[in-house]
Amino acid sequence: MKIFAHRGASGNFPENTHSAINGALDVEVDGIEVDLQSAKDDYVIIHDSWLDRTTNGQGKVSDYFLSQLKEFDAGNGEKIPNLQDLFNWVGTKAIINIELKHTTCLKQLKLNLEKNLAQGNISKQKMIISSYDHHQLKWIKQQLPWLRIGALTSSIPINYAQFAQELNAFSIHIDMNFINNEFVLDAKKRGLKVYCYTVDKYEDIKRMHTLKVDGIFTNYPANTKNILQQL
Ligand code: G3P
Ligand code: CA
Repeated sequence: MKIFAHRGASGNFPENTHSAINGALDVEVDGIEVDLQSAKDDYVIIHDSWLDRTTNGQGKVSDYFLSQLKEFDAGNGEKIPNLQDLFNWVGTKAIINIELKHTTCLKQLKLNLEKNLAQGNISKQKMIISSYDHHQLKWIKQQLPWLRIGALTSSIPINYAQFAQELNAFSIHIDMNFINNEFVLDAKKRGLKVYCYTVDKYEDIKRMHTLKVDGIFTNYPANTKNILQQL
């Protein structure tokens, strides 16, 4: 079962920041999940569309240029990373799972991914783009057939595994509260990986392990790794 650090090691460090990403790399996670928003001139790593919850800034991320966003404190003096920071820090050391939030200009994102792939900054096998917005996933998969996409859902809609398969997804990312054995078997039969979020507690880690899901997103990768080694 793969371990993905959710927003980096966000249980121990400010979410979606350099220290959270480094904290995850330090414990040799399999993957790092981050959230992508669009600024006026770049892509930035931040969960909310608004700055207020996780930074000392105010207002919408999309109303700022990157240089302005870099002035804000994202926790413990950290700066809001942009997409290139993420690629520079993680590279091919772990799977990078980018969740598209209110991400616009996907054509630019496509070019960005192509450029970083060509430069060897990222690898095809260690890159997953996920989103609840399945139209965006469909578009980017058509543009970049090599790209792994993760169909995100917070519940199990009827025939969701079939839907994800038809979307040409690599994986299904699903809220752990809705997962069941039947769904896992159906997804696996269709060649899809099943990754569950957000799994922090011992009993939940154990339940996901018993269900044989392919991976979990956790805010506490070090602790989760320890627990898994004892199961
Ligand atoms: O990608 C899985 C999970 O991160 C989705 O929920 O709200 O934490 O972005 P959220
Ligand atoms: Ca996320």
